[in-house]
This record gives sequence, structure tokens and C-alpha cells, in this order.
Amino acid sequence: MDLGLKDARVLVAASSRGLGRATARQFSREGASVVVNGRDAAELEATASAIGQETGNRVFAAAGDLTVPDDVARVIEQAVHHLGGLDILVTNAGGPPPGSFETVALEAWEKAFHLNVMSAVLLIRGALPYLKQSDRAAILTITSVSVKQPLDNLILSNSVRMAVAGLTKSLAFELGPDGIRVNSILPGWTRTERVTELMTDRAARQGITVEEAIGRQAAGAPLGRMGEPEEFANVAVFLCSPAAGYVHGAMIPVEGGSIRTTL
Ligand SMILES: NC(=O)c1ccc[n+]([C@@H]2O[C@H](COP(=O)([O-])OP(=O)(O)OC[C@H]3O[C@@H](n4cnc5c(N)ncnc54)[C@H](OP(=O)(O)O)[C@@H]3O)[C@@H](O)[C@H]2O)c1
Repeated sequence: MDLGLKDARVLVAASSRGLGRATARQFSREGASVVVNGRDAAELEATASAIGQETGNRVFAAAGDLTVPDDVARVIEQAVHHLGGLDILVTNAGGPPPGSFETVALEAWEKAFHLNVMSAVLLIRGALPYLKQSDRAAILTITSVSVKQPLDNLILSNSVRMAVAGLTKSLAFELGPDGIRVNSILPGWTRTERVTELMTDRAARQGITVEEAIGRQAAGAPLGRMGEPEEFANVAVFLCSPAAGYVHGAMIPVEGGSIRTTL
């Protein structure tokens, strides 16, 4: 199937590693021009150059901290400068730290709100004027299975991601008339650097090895394993592509069947 992404202009936020990186790489493999983002400029440059070398397509780095409004504005400005406009925006960021209601510090709530909610708000606000000029505009937010089913010891993620799900669904109604499709992916446990960090934290708390923690978590999904970043990226790129032209306002789980609800 031709996804219709050749020469599409794409900004994937928070994409030097993990789900974002895999998504940027897959867009590039489909012939899109891509801007990647992260705070660590050296790691980001390495990612941009690795993807560009592999695919032969244009990949640019726009470093910036998505919790800082001026940085987000600069990232958008650089993306538009490099790409000559914008067709697709993927909002992503790091994840908030693990913890329960009683262990998480009060300040961590506000930080999580800025990291996961306001970053999406700022990115979408900045990108909107350019997306409105595109004839294949799409926004994809990355949330979590936690919007359907809370995850143990992740009170911050369980709480703040609900706001992004609400934002996504609301924007589908507000921006649909402008021809901008808006969807979200709810990833389940996928083997990225963040998950390794979370499993390291869990292993230390439970007195087991990291591999044991990963194995126990993976056993909770019907497929009996965690997902790979490429499996997430394939769905992300499809959802943003003209091939998914009638998929709008959807919350798509990519979680190996782990959510225990029928609808
Ligand atoms: N992997 C999973 O199983 C899973 C499941 C559900 C939800 N999620 C969520 O999906 C998102 C991505 O997860 P991941 O596993 O890919 O995480 P990851 O491996 O830790 O990668 C996070 C990426 O975001 C960048 N980043 C972090 N904070 C940033 C900031 N303030 N400004 C700009 N860039 C920032 C990081 O680069 P720098 O550090 O250089 O900035 C890195 O490129 C997270 O919100 C996570 O909670 C993941």
C-alpha cells in the first residue's frame, strides 16, 4: 500500500530515542522529510544523521525542551524553516517519574502537567497555522494505555494523560472542519529506554532482576511479550498518512491486547 507520505513534512517531538525515534525513522523510510527533537543536542544530531544515512531522505534536528514555551516556539520555527511548511505533527515527550499518590512529591504534579499536557498544547498551538495550509494535515498525540486502565505505581501518568486524551478528542471536533485529522495512540509496554528505567526502578523495589521484572510485566499481556518500538511506529505512521484519511478522533491502543475491557 502506498501511504502517500512521499515528501510529507513531519515534526516528531521528543524523538531522539524510543517511540519518537522509531516513528521518525519510519516516516523517513516512507519518503517524508522529518524534523526530530529532544533536549540533548548531541544525541539528537546522532539520531538525525543515523536516520538520514539509512533512508537517504532529509532529516533535521531541532533541539529544545518541550516544557519551555520559548523552546517549543523555536522548535516549530526551525521545523517550518527546514521543511518549508508542516503537514504532520506528532506530540510526544518523556514520561513522568513512577510513584504512588503517597510517594510522589507535590511539585512533581505540576512538572508532569507541563511535560505531558502543556507540551502538547504548545506544540499544537504553534503548528496550527502551518497545518491549516496543508492538504494532508494530521496530528497524532501519544498517550498511554493508562487512559483506559491505570498502571501500577504510575499515578502521574495515569492522571495527566487523561487531559491529553480529552484534548485529542476535542480537537478532532474543532479541527476536523479545517481538514486536520487528530488521533491518539495508547501505547502499552514497549521496550524503550524509558521502560528499561521503569523496570529497573521496579526491580529494585521488589528485590528482583531487571529481566525478571520485564518478564513478569510482559506475562500480563495476552501476547506474552512487550511491544517493539517499530510495531508502535508502523501504526503511528499509518494513522498520520493520507491512507488513513477517514480515521479521525480515534484512540488506538497498540498494547498487545493488554487492556481488559471489551470496548
Ligand atoms: N515505552 C512504553 O512502554 C510507553 C508506554 C506508554 C506510554 N509511553 C509514553 O510515551 C512517551 C515516550 O516514551 P518512550 O518510552 O519512547 O521514552 P524514552 O525512551 O525515555 O524517550 C523519550 C524521548 O523524549 C525526549 N524528551 C524527554 N523529555 C523531553 C523534553 N522535556 N523536551 C524534549 N524532549 C524530551 C528524550 O530525549 P532527551 O532526554 O534528550 O530530551 C527522548 O528522545 C513517554 O511519555 C512515555 O511515558 C511509553
